[in-house]
Amino acid sequence: MNKKEIKNKIESLKEKIKYHNYLYYIENKPAISDYDFDLLIKELEKLEKENPEFITEDSPTQRIGSDLSGAFPSFSHYIPMLSIENTYSKEELLDFDKRVKKLTKSNAIEYVCEHKLDGLSINLIYEDGLLIHALTRGDGLKGEDVINNIKTIPYLPLKLSLSGISEIRGEVFIKKSVFKKINSKREENGEALFANPRNLAAGTLKLQSPGEVKKRNLSLFLYGKGRFDNLFVKTQYEYLKFLEKLKLPVSKNYKLCENIDDVWNYCEEWNKKRDELDYPIDGIVIKVNNFSLQDQLGSTMKTPRWIIAYKFPAERVLTKLNKVVFQVGRTGIITPVAEFEPVHLAGTIVKRATLHNFDEIKRKDIKENDWIYVEKGGDIIPKVIGVDKEKRKGVEREILPPRNCPVCGEKTVKFEGEVAYRCTNISCPAQIKGRIANFVSSDAFDIQFLGKKWIDILVDKGIIKNFSDIFSLDYTKLLKMERMGEKSVMNLKDAIESAKNISLERFIYALGIPYVGKKSAQILASHFKTLDALMNASTDELCNIDGIGEKTASAIVDFFVSEKNKAEIDKLLRYINIADVKNDKTVLSTDISGKKFLITGTLVSMKRKEAENILKKFGGIVVSSVSKSLDILIVGEKPGSKYEKAVNLGIEIWDENRFLQKCGLKK
Ligand code: IVH
Repeated sequence: MNKKEIKNKIESLKEKIKYHNYLYYIENKPAISDYDFDLLIKELEKLEKENPEFITEDSPTQRIGSDLSGAFPSFSHYIPMLSIENTYSKEELLDFDKRVKKLTKSNAIEYVCEHKLDGLSINLIYEDGLLIHALTRGDGLKGEDVINNIKTIPYLPLKLSLSGISEIRGEVFIKKSVFKKINSKREENGEALFANPRNLAAGTLKLQSPGEVKKRNLSLFLYGKGRFDNLFVKTQYEYLKFLEKLKLPVSKNYKLCENIDDVWNYCEEWNKKRDELDYPIDGIVIKVNNFSLQDQLGSTMKTPRWIIAYKFPAERVLTKLNKVVFQVGRTGIITPVAEFEPVHLAGTIVKRATLHNFDEIKRKDIKENDWIYVEKGGDIIPKVIGVDKEKRKGVEREILPPRNCPVCGEKTVKFEGEVAYRCTNISCPAQIKGRIANFVSSDAFDIQFLGKKWIDILVDKGIIKNFSDIFSLDYTKLLKMERMGEKSVMNLKDAIESAKNISLERFIYALGIPYVGKKSAQILASHFKTLDALMNASTDELCNIDGIGEKTASAIVDFFVSEKNKAEIDKLLRYINIADVKNDKTVLSTDISGKKFLITGTLVSMKRKEAENILKKFGGIVVSSVSKSLDILIVGEKPGSKYEKAVNLGIEIWDENRFLQKCGLKK
């Protein structure tokens, strides 16, 4: 690679890493395994080391990921919360041992092995024995105080006999059994499922209502220390015993190891036994036992030198590929999906995995009836890695793109320059379902209750053909349908009613225009400010906008030229209310952004949750109790005691009308 290529490669790696950091820490929806993420980081680190002139301050290698969301007050950790270097092999562990011995000039090092809990780190700050903060890791230097959510953990002592400052650190997580229970309930209700226990824990920790948090049943294990004004133990092993004595929750399976061979045995033992545990672990943490040796080893910018994590390898199994089915998405793209003999993988049973496209099938030389390797890392989506060709018997069949759409029968086409085959019939039920699913998704209208189950029924029965049909459902008719309980129908009605106010950006994304993802929707909304302006834009005008390419521009023009689409938008506008960006901006800069809000009493025009979401969309911070730091209390009908308290503290009060005006939802 020449210098220019290296620079471009570094830029693209940085973008990728930033994107995956965002998905992991903010959206709680990781799209790649930790292993694949670490590979990206390692590749970037290597390139930066060889080409230090390209290191920039904002590079992900220069800082640790941040979970700061702005929704809670933030406080500094007394001692920064660093991260741990990951390893994936015995060799790397032996290297670590060698390094430790060399730096400490010692031949016998004791280690403590602990389970690497797959949750979120938390820093409990006790002041003279009283729990005063529970901080997330945040950006490592400061975290968000989620103390009210942490207090829902019933066995966590709020008072300890300690003096001065004690920072006790650990992991908040959700037990696997609790995760399964919560997800199966959500499935019944047609709500979006959590990808794994860690995502559920992350989503829970940042909820604004401790009542809701309590229902989610968070768990906690403590294992670490920050600042400790009065601590008399000298090793990690004694420290864990000390925590146990204080009746703090500690995972029972830690072990004192005399050497690195014992450490490796412990890693292998728990790699085999991890499925037996009811709490999620993704590896083993290995710590130098002696605190004074830890101090001697110190740390780099990001990770201490006395600790390392051994991450369990992604599980891989061999299974028989029975057949390949074809899925049709909202834009008509046909995706081949492998259906194989069900296998146990990373704690769950898997039987399907996407094969992405026909080029990929060719590249990996996958055939029906082949024996394939399937891999799953960190509870992320399973991947087909390759084929065991030795096992071929001559009964394997080539996988060819379908000539006709498997759902509506229309002829399939492959456009020049594209990899994908498509169904071009826009009335194909599969496309309608895909479009509706996108329209109600969390980045669009966010009607969580209208899940796959409902969409399938309503589209199959011909009740929903277009977006606007969602808002004109005949609920009495629905009630008469088989298997439609009154409660479900009422919940559906509520969910749809409360989704009627939407920002321009979300609305553009909801339309499902080809190539218009979240980012382009955002660019378009802030450029055009109103839907009308966007609908009247020319290809040239669109092409001139930074971030909008030619393909996207012509897809947008094509979309809005269509009389059918225009009529559908007209219809939609009879039911919904789009907040123009002009309004948003005034709101953003002055009245809502960065301010702390609390809602009390019943709102007439929308549910409280929806109002909270609107505030958050405008950059507001929703808190759960009245204090001097509250900026504005929004008061609905029959307000509670919070109203009185806020009045006494002299806090600004908005009634519902004022709130709607400030958000641009009312003139
Ligand atoms: S000690 C320098 N011990 O793993 C950080 N961390 O991938 C010292 N973790 O941020 C942390 N189990 O959230 C430690 N037994 C354990 C752990 C553990 C899980 C988490 C922790 C940390 C992350 C790094």
